[in-house]
This record gives sequence, C-alpha cells and structure tokens, in this order.
Amino acid sequence: MVLRCSSSNARPATPPTCRTRCGKVRRWSKIVGRPAGKVDGFHYSTGFAKADFVWDDAKLDAWLTNPQEIIPGAVMAYRQAKPEARAAIIGYLKELN
Ligand code: HEM
Repeated sequence: MVLRCSSSNARPATPPTCRTRCGKVRRWSKIVGRPAGKVDGFHYSTGFAKADFVWDDAKLDAWLTNPQEIIPGAVMAYRQAKPEARAAIIGYLKELN
C-alpha cells in the first residue's frame, strides 16, 4: 500500500478526503488513545510488532510528519509537512473518538 493521498498538498485541511483515498485509513478513525499496531486482522509491517505505545497528539503529529521515524520500515506513504494541517487532521481524528 504505497498510494499517496493527493489532498496532502492541495487541500491539507480535508482529512476525510485522505480517508476515502485509502480503505485502510477508515479503520484508523478511532485511533486516538488506542495502542499502535493492534487493529484486529490488519497485517502491519514488521516494525509494528515492537510498537509499545498509545496514539496521542504528539505521536500522531510525529507519525504524520514521517511515519518511518516512529516505526522503522512503516509502509504508509502519506506525509503532511504543514504543522497546521497535521493539527487539523489530529483534531478531526479526536472528533471521531
Ligand atoms: C490523514 C491521513 C492519514 C492518517 C491520519 C493516518 C493514520 C495512520 C495511523 C495512526 C496508522 C497506525 C495505525 C495503527 O497503529 O493501528 C496508520 C497506518 C497505515 N496507514 Fe495511514 N494515515 C493516513 C493516510 C494514509 C493513506 C492515504 C494511506 C494509503 C493510501 C495510508 C496507509 C496506511 C498503511 C498501509 C498503514 C500501515 C502501515 C504499516 O503497516 O507499516 N494512510 N495510518
């Protein structure tokens, strides 16, 4: 799964668009407060086996900046360089909790 979310640059504040672009992402909707790498039935890349943390604002911010910095070898291609766009995405994810 190495698709890029086309809204990442053009429309950074529209996370729902990101979500509909990747079927997997819909499963992350209630991610805040949940342990990393524990969605039942999802085949994560191997680095997730060593992940031992709960997703919070800081972790999600770092993950969306550069997933491989948080989980070595992570295969998520999406990145968001703009801090305000990351904050909007994280705020959106919390609304879904
Ligand atoms: C704003 C958009 C996005 C957010 C907030 C987001 C968030 C996340 C989070 C929190 C995880 C870790 C899940 C867990 O611990 O269970 C994850 C993993 C993943 N995401 Fe995203 N994601 C986004 C966009 C995308 C897009 C567009 C794709 C694909 C088209 C994608 C593909 C993946 C894949 C394949 C993984 C698993 C990575 C691995 O196994 O190494 N994501 N995402």
